[in-house]
Amino acid sequence: MRTLSLTPVGSYREAMGHLLVLYTQVDRLIMEICAERIATAPDEPAGLALAKQVGDESRHVCIQRQWMERFGSDTTPLISTAQEEMIRQHFRELSWLEFLADLYLCVEALGSEAVEEIVPLADPGTRESLHIPLRDEQDHVAFGLSRLRHELARLAPQERHAFIASLPARIERLTVAFHGLGLGVADLFARVGADYAALSQAVARRRDEILDQVAA
Ligand SMILES: [Fe+2]
Ligand SMILES: [Fe+2]
Repeated sequence: MRTLSLTPVGSYREAMGHLLVLYTQVDRLIMEICAERIATAPDEPAGLALAKQVGDESRHVCIQRQWMERFGSDTTPLISTAQEEMIRQHFRELSWLEFLADLYLCVEALGSEAVEEIVPLADPGTRESLHIPLRDEQDHVAFGLSRLRHELARLAPQERHAFIASLPARIERLTVAFHGLGLGVADLFARVGADYAALSQAVARRRDEILDQVAA
């Protein structure tokens, strides 16, 4: 069967290379952000989970770096040094509850949903490089969600409801801030063959599922 590809191969490789760089930068930032949190974790299980995640993210960075070298990606960072510092600072200033919401609901759950949407479109090598990282991200999301529910259950009902009610706007603000970084992600996704509107819908569905789980 004759197939018609509208995406030139060179464009795919370049765009996927940039997405791999972005994913690796985000993993490294998460590693640093979690490492900083260990000292102020509210209890030992939380500290141990954060420490495990630091190890996981470090492994993801290693796997991705090795793959990017073989793939021949241009490894120029997409997120600037100043933007990285702004992101670290954002997480530093959050309460534990806000930290759980921003890191696990937004970055880990919704970020990995977007990455998972890309997997079926990726070349075999890139797909393989994402296998271990995406499996670990599921663990991280599970920890974040269960811990968020645990903390919410300890709040007074009014406080609990207020926090849950604030979550959609919180996610929206972070999404706007992420797009405000000007990384051109919509274009990169389109160039690897993703239907960006469909991808955004998948992320929105995942957001709704998670919000239901948090509120249940
Ligand atoms: Fe990761
Ligand atoms: Fe993660």
